[in-house]
Amino acid sequence: MSHPFDALTHEVLRHDESVKWATFGTDVLPLWIADMDFPVASEVREALLRRVEGPLGYGLLAGDPRLYALVNDKEVARGSAPYDPAAMMLMPGVVPGLYAAVLGLTSPGDEIVTHVPIYPPFLSAIADHGRVTRAVPLTAPGGDAARWEIDWDAMEAAVTPRTRLLMLCSPHNPTGRVWSREELARLAEFALRHRLWVVSDELHADLVLDGTFVPFASVSPEVARRTVTLTGPCKTYNTAALGIGLATSHEPALIDAMRAATKGVMGHPAALAQTAWMAGLSSDGAWLADVLGYLRANRDHLVARVARDLPGVRFTPPEATYLAWLDFSALGWDERPQVRLLERARVGLSDGLTFGEGYGAFARLNFATSRAVLDEAVDRLTDAVREASPVS
Ligand SMILES: Cc1ncc(COP(=O)(O)O)c(C=O)c1O
Repeated sequence: MSHPFDALTHEVLRHDESVKWATFGTDVLPLWIADMDFPVASEVREALLRRVEGPLGYGLLAGDPRLYALVNDKEVARGSAPYDPAAMMLMPGVVPGLYAAVLGLTSPGDEIVTHVPIYPPFLSAIADHGRVTRAVPLTAPGGDAARWEIDWDAMEAAVTPRTRLLMLCSPHNPTGRVWSREELARLAEFALRHRLWVVSDELHADLVLDGTFVPFASVSPEVARRTVTLTGPCKTYNTAALGIGLATSHEPALIDAMRAATKGVMGHPAALAQTAWMAGLSSDGAWLADVLGYLRANRDHLVARVARDLPGVRFTPPEATYLAWLDFSALGWDERPQVRLLERARVGLSDGLTFGEGYGAFARLNFATSRAVLDEAVDRLTDAVREASPVS
């Protein structure tokens, strides 16, 4: 049965105000930056239209209390203890939250542990302000591991007396892992034993395709008091253009430290972004359920097509997100796959190297697009892979 998203062709989707669509030539299918090619929920669109019909003078400078209440309801429904709205800090995005955590919770020269591969701003937030990255590679699938796993020995080896912070991406971008309660409990034990602060970026928490998301701060009250949780609406409701994020903690002093370190630079929260987020949180969830169904079907289709048409490309299906972390290393190319596939297949993927040293043979593919665009992109990749490794 067809779905309204099936009608989205690249002619319909291409527009000059989208970084995804405007970055490459018009003959390129862009499956890179993490937004969805789908229109927003009607509740979100209608709330925005209503809001722009009203005055656009200064809004509530400390943020809308209804938004704090809605975010709290959601966190509590997932198993977290309620947050004090005074310890909720709105920011122009979640990336500013990564930077604010680094600035507020560590000092120059301090070490920060994070897993690699990782969403690139984790690495820039550490390096841009003179902190030191202690990158712990996830264990690649293969051998005993059926999926990307945390290497616990490498975690222990990464910690020194200068290590202050663990930056966690949960669910994980780019592998799509949904960390289990057991893994999170072990991370909590690790953080407590080494007296680390934790920043848990939970922006993808609503985009779970299989399994159950567990908020890191819900694992134990002890670790909750060492944790800053970052969240936002942009992945769930596809509103990245509006720019908003939120940091919160059960230890208000951590949020105070982030506020102090960024005093004067965060501005006041944008009215339209808050409107869209509140509309999404107040909606009945039908739009999101429909999107998740489409994403799940696209993921399963991609898994089948990679297995059938892209021999040598390794790919472990993501449990969350709409991102596929593709390993081209077995093809033995001397160019990075992102570069080669942009030139030869005219498909724009994200460059694996930006996700950490050692990932130059990987590329990330965003499958939050129509089935037709996805199929056309995989057809082009198939031709480029065949051309590079002709069957004798
Ligand atoms: C884990 C993660 N954090 C943060 C962001 C970006 O957040 P924002 O656009 O709100 O700064 C992304 C976007 O892809 C992401 O994947």
